[in-house]
Amino acid sequence: MNGWRLAAAARELREGDLLEANLPEGPVFLLRTGSGVLARGARCPHMGADLRFAPRRGGRVTCALHAWEFDVPSGACLAGPRDASLFSLPAREAFGAVFVQTGEGALPAFESMEESEVAALPGSRVALACAPLGVALNAFDVAHLGTVHRRELLEPPEFGAVGDVFRLRYASRPSGRAPSDRLMLALSKGRIEVTITALSPFLIVVESRAGTTTSGLLVGLSPGGAGTEVFPVFCVKRSGGRLADALRTRLSRWLYTEFLKRDLVPLTGFALTEGSFQPGDESVRAFLEWAGGVRPGERA
Ligand code: FES
Ligand SMILES: [Fe+2]
Repeated sequence: MNGWRLAAAARELREGDLLEANLPEGPVFLLRTGSGVLARGARCPHMGADLRFAPRRGGRVTCALHAWEFDVPSGACLAGPRDASLFSLPAREAFGAVFVQTGEGALPAFESMEESEVAALPGSRVALACAPLGVALNAFDVAHLGTVHRRELLEPPEFGAVGDVFRLRYASRPSGRAPSDRLMLALSKGRIEVTITALSPFLIVVESRAGTTTSGLLVGLSPGGAGTEVFPVFCVKRSGGRLADALRTRLSRWLYTEFLKRDLVPLTGFALTEGSFQPGDESVRAFLEWAGGVRPGERA
């Protein structure tokens, strides 16, 4: 399964700063150096204290538990055993965001837009009281498109594993009466084609074509205090002028946000329970099997 994680907005990471991120694999510090970006493990090698909450001076942190001290840029242990260094992970900037590599696989990409063609706008993190897998499976639940999102499916959706990713494609028509529904209906002329690809249960790529507009959404999911932190990056295909692209990314952010806001209430406290699956839920079941064999009866 793809090991790239969406960690932060690139603009948040200034040279000389330590930026905190919580990946599914654990907490890290992000750093910008002369040669690029880097992630450094933020768990103390002694007993595992989270160094994001440790006292800090410049690039140095002193573990709050037993005072081992670390130089984060080099990872070296300055006070404590010499071999107790902080590990590093490769990181890359793309789509206005910082991605950290925790395992095999290619950086996220869109099917219909090269990275150089994309204007990207990282959004704000949203905390949900629901496990990350519950949020991810929601993206593949076509049965709630009508009830939650006011979208009518125009034809049977296609879904399944494609290589090492899981993909869902569907076409729908907005049928709601909210301003965002009406605008989407007008922009799309009644047909929105959506492709949703999970690179892992922690990184989802959405592409949407409405009329002549192609837009995309990258969604990073990581465990947070309440359950899951959702980090979106809104993308559109560049059309020329910077101002026009800036306006289009903001419009796209508003439309995606209006769409995703409808998931907030249903996902609060969501946990999959035994006997959940009914006809019509096949895409969710297939996603869960791909994601690691969570079966009814296990909590998502
Ligand atoms: S847990 Fe960090 S020094 Fe002991
Ligand atoms: Fe949804």
